[in-house]
Amino acid sequence: MNTENIENQLRIAIGEIVDNDFGKTLNELGAVHSVNVKDGVAEILLQLVPPLQWIAPTIDKECSEAVQVIAPNLRPAVFVREKEVHRTGSKSVLPSVKNLIAVASGKGGVGKSTIAANIAAALAMKGASVGLLDADIYGPSAPTMFDMANAQLEAEKLPDGRIIGQPNERYGVKIASIGFVMQRDQAAILRGPMLAGYFNTLVEQINWGELDFLVFDLPPGTGDIQLTLTQRVPLTGAVIVTTPQEISLVDVRRSISMFRKVNVEILGIIENMSYFTPPELPENKYHIFGEGGGKKVANENNVPLLGEVPITLGTREGGDEGLPVVLNPEEFSQGEVLRNITARLVSEVRLANLRSSEQPIIQISL
Ligand SMILES: Nc1ncnc2c1ncn2[C@@H]1O[C@H](COP(=O)(O)OP(=O)(O)O)[C@@H](O)[C@H]1O
Ligand SMILES: [Mg+2]
Repeated sequence: MNTENIENQLRIAIGEIVDNDFGKTLNELGAVHSVNVKDGVAEILLQLVPPLQWIAPTIDKECSEAVQVIAPNLRPAVFVREKEVHRTGSKSVLPSVKNLIAVASGKGGVGKSTIAANIAAALAMKGASVGLLDADIYGPSAPTMFDMANAQLEAEKLPDGRIIGQPNERYGVKIASIGFVMQRDQAAILRGPMLAGYFNTLVEQINWGELDFLVFDLPPGTGDIQLTLTQRVPLTGAVIVTTPQEISLVDVRRSISMFRKVNVEILGIIENMSYFTPPELPENKYHIFGEGGGKKVANENNVPLLGEVPITLGTREGGDEGLPVVLNPEEFSQGEVLRNITARLVSEVRLANLRSSEQPIIQISL
């Protein structure tokens, strides 16, 4: 077989590889940029919808297998570039952040911060550059959950007079918390506009740098503050955390309708505290807070259920001790649940990015 033949065969085989997040072939997605055979190397250039951290290794492997089958004497060299995505919303807010994900909940205490912290840590584990913006004025918890309770915000004055703060980094996650800029007991006496001011400080006066993901831990509920925040930043989408019981679901429905009103896509629902399995009775599941609520509210609203997270002692301890449970090798199975949820979320982010790259660009001025 001559080089041209091999290239053609490779092009056909690679074009038929399926991007599982979209159920479409690389050909259908226009993802195959070039296939070149030279000096014993099959060089394959692809362009995939980001984020790439999960999909690229999978596709890379399938391309290498195709080379192995068609031309086993060639060495595969697969290069994956990010396809350009038109970010929705304001272009001037956080322009160097690619994907902005809000973690929200109708009620407090459902595990929103725990989930946000673990998602951020799981993204960083995969090599993504990640920030966590803890905007929960009622109970900033990132400082505790990342073992930086005494951390201060290092700030410097730029030549033009602006003050810019550095996020604190832990476990590969850049963290800025409203707890760094506001006293704990201040929330009760602050009014909406002032709270919005603190939030803007974290968005605009923190040197986030280039990020693949910025995860927002929002305050619970659907009040004015949440509305301001969600309109202010060009969110890729929102994730809603709930417990399984009916009383929580009422609030979830309210959250969903708030996000939809301001055109923020719901990336999925995460049910937390779904059940408890005592370590000595590994076959048993006790549904302490009810059963099936997350699935029900996801179905009702036609949004994906990203996963169900059990109650474990290690999760609570990890939160209190400042080591997110996904990073604790002794809590492997809970870590897997949360890592799988993160992978599922990233698939939804890719879907959202695909949709917005197919839409005409509309600049919404704020
Ligand atoms: N799956 C879980 N298993 C055990 N404890 C959990 C779990 N999720 C959250 N918690 C604990 O519940 C408490 C409330 O969680 P938190 O994330 O602070 O909720 P929220 O941010 O919604 O107010 C914390 O002590 C946390 O460690
Ligand atoms: Mg919280």
